[in-house]
Amino acid sequence: MNRKLVLGLAVVLLVGSSATWAADDGAALYKTKCAGCHGAKGEGKPAIKAPAIKGTTMEVNQIVEHLTKGEAGSKAPHNKGIAGLNDSQAKAIADYVKTLN
Ligand code: HEC
Repeated sequence: MNRKLVLGLAVVLLVGSSATWAADDGAALYKTKCAGCHGAKGEGKPAIKAPAIKGTTMEVNQIVEHLTKGEAGSKAPHNKGIAGLNDSQAKAIADYVKTLN
């Protein structure tokens, strides 16, 4: 293999892995912050009145707002923003929620 190609590959690998490292992991965040109520696959938990959210018709930005701000008329915990969740984490979770169906 030629040297430039090897160097180029190394750069791609480095940049690629650091980008993955830096990005918020929506699946992991969902698991720790949401799955307890909404189920591992977003199927919901009727026993605690947490609705299914898989296949939701809510848009990503609506889910983000729902998580970071909440709605006064919603039941807890969504009557206000989820504690300790920043916008980029909320976006990562919302993107993940949209993959559940
Ligand atoms: C303590 C339990 C609990 C946790 C934790 C929780 N939720 Fe909820 N969630 C609920 C309940 C209860 C409702 C219904 C609220 C209502 O009807 O006002 C709800 C509603 C929702 C809805 C709206 C569903 C709809 O169709 O109206 C979405 C989307 C949602 N939650 C996403 C999440 C995400 C994503 C997380 C993780 C960051 C999360 N929730 C964490 C209990 C929880």
